[in-house]
Amino acid sequence: MNLQITSFEDYQEKYQHSVEDPEGFWAEIAQNFYWRKPWKKTLEWNFETAETKWFKGGKMNITENALDRHLATRGDQPAIVFEPNDPSDESTTLTYKVLHERVCTFANVLKKHGVQKGDRICIYMPMIPELAIAVLACARIGAIHSVVFGGFSAQSIADRINDAQCNLVITADGSFRGNKSIPLKSTMDDALIQCPSVKKVIVATRTRVPVSMLKGRDLWWEEEVKTVSSVCPAEEMDAEDILFILYTSGSTGKPKGVVHTCGGYMIYSTYTFANVFQYQEGQTHFCTADIGWITGHSYIVYGPLCYGATTLLFEGVPTYPDAGRFWDIVTKHKVDILYTAPTAIRSLMGFGDEFVEGKDLSSLKVLGSVGEPINEEAWHWYNEKVGHKNCPIVDTWWQTETGGLMISPIANVTPTKPSYATLPLPGVQPLLVDEKGDELVGNGVSGNLCIRFPWPGIIRTTYGDHERCVQTYFSTYKGLYFTGDGCLRDEDGYYRITGRVDDVINVSGHRIGTAEVENAINMHLGVVESAIVGYPHDIKGQGIYAYIIMDKEQEDIDLTRRDILATVTRIIGPIAKPDKIQFVSGLPKTRSGKIMRRILRKVAEGETSNLGDISTLLDPNVVAEIIDGMVK
Ligand code: PRX
Repeated sequence: MNLQITSFEDYQEKYQHSVEDPEGFWAEIAQNFYWRKPWKKTLEWNFETAETKWFKGGKMNITENALDRHLATRGDQPAIVFEPNDPSDESTTLTYKVLHERVCTFANVLKKHGVQKGDRICIYMPMIPELAIAVLACARIGAIHSVVFGGFSAQSIADRINDAQCNLVITADGSFRGNKSIPLKSTMDDALIQCPSVKKVIVATRTRVPVSMLKGRDLWWEEEVKTVSSVCPAEEMDAEDILFILYTSGSTGKPKGVVHTCGGYMIYSTYTFANVFQYQEGQTHFCTADIGWITGHSYIVYGPLCYGATTLLFEGVPTYPDAGRFWDIVTKHKVDILYTAPTAIRSLMGFGDEFVEGKDLSSLKVLGSVGEPINEEAWHWYNEKVGHKNCPIVDTWWQTETGGLMISPIANVTPTKPSYATLPLPGVQPLLVDEKGDELVGNGVSGNLCIRFPWPGIIRTTYGDHERCVQTYFSTYKGLYFTGDGCLRDEDGYYRITGRVDDVINVSGHRIGTAEVENAINMHLGVVESAIVGYPHDIKGQGIYAYIIMDKEQEDIDLTRRDILATVTRIIGPIAKPDKIQFVSGLPKTRSGKIMRRILRKVAEGETSNLGDISTLLDPNVVAEIIDGMVK
């Protein structure tokens, strides 16, 4: 498959072509994939109704592209290299042949238990090969996977299962994360009390903690795979059939199920993988994300496998057994491409250079960054200590909703600039608008980032609620997809993402909705009201600052604080725990009852003067109290 851009001039030409003739551009790329039947129409779209269809009428199955088509040419090459949590445990390799066989076998297990095309399957697993196998097995038979990150609570799992009405769950007894063993199955059991739609639960063995197995509902993965054949023809899918749902947080309400479909997502994740990282035959690609997030879906599983790459799947955490673990993995597996998040870089930087110095990182060719803005200090450390100034850094901007990378350098093609995502990839037409929605033309401007034309990986709908998709992404600015991000375009036309402009916080590269955290806190006994804002955090990028009103004076305020943290952990998961809690007697509200978050944000950032106009507040006195009790 030859999809790669080879020079900056080539990029400029391809970009131009993709804008002048988007359909022709993407049709040419799509020809490189295996289709059972060709599509009838390359693109149909309407941003007013949030409807996009790519390659309509085309018949295919993504697993035939990710697995079957490689068997003849690279069946014995490693598809997945698995590095376990404990470095003294052996790593394992699954060749394309073995992965194909295991996916087909597990797909037959799903079929045996009645799973049909279009059924929704919830996957809640550790980062072990069975997770990738489960994902691909769903895709093989046309079932829709909804992977839930292993750090989410029972309540969050239940919300996601119920929203999608999943009828089968795939999980594991537990997971290893550093020196911790996390009981996944028992969390899932707690969730399932609220989920009548789930009829079967398949449990893979990992930690061997005792688990309760319900007769008639729960089944062991290892037993089930012994009962079926390893031959499983792929289900024929329409390009616009749903491939997966992935829940993500927004500014309001509960997380929404972002829907991606088979054809466009396949083309887009593969094309962007091949180009941005400039993967070469035989290289090893190490994306450190969890498959529970979009980065793992697109750049551990689908993009690399459709391109015939070797993808490394790491179970553990960057600091176990010590802060040199990533570098040990790079040395051990001769990793060529490392793709990680600024949070990880900042955290490893904080442990000191002795963990990276002296490690053999000579195999590295390309470094990637994703999930949040990368600050210059982290960029330089990554460039010097990890890349030894020999590896281009691709700072990739994109979102769960975009399916794949959108604004990013192409390794060794696009000249980079620290902290800039640089230029749009071919097929991506960004623009900046002001508050009123007027386009900011020319360079040296900043505003809200929108996209004016569909690309194949664009979100198709929010599961079960299309209107929410219309409202969230296509209504703020008429005729445009609104990203929710602020952005600056410098004098060279380079893009730099400045962060969310809505009520979404980005904590360690994880998207967290302020409303979601407030709802969780408000469930705690005695809490009258709460308001959440983000503030700059040295390691996490942003931290969570909570202002909370209690119904009465608390006897033991530290205990109350801990209880509230426990409530958030129980309702959402530990990633949503506030870093700072300030108890207040009131919140700054306008006369119409709206919380003035601007003031809360400023105080959380440590700003006590220049709070702007507070004359419209119902009770301006609360501001003085808030400043007084500010948590440093
Ligand atoms: O604010 C942007 C930030 O992460 C958001 C998307 O989060 P999520 O859907 O969870 O996907 C994360 C992985 C793709 C964006 O709206 N973001 C992502 N990449 C960058 C970024 N901010 C700055 N620079 C980036 N490279």
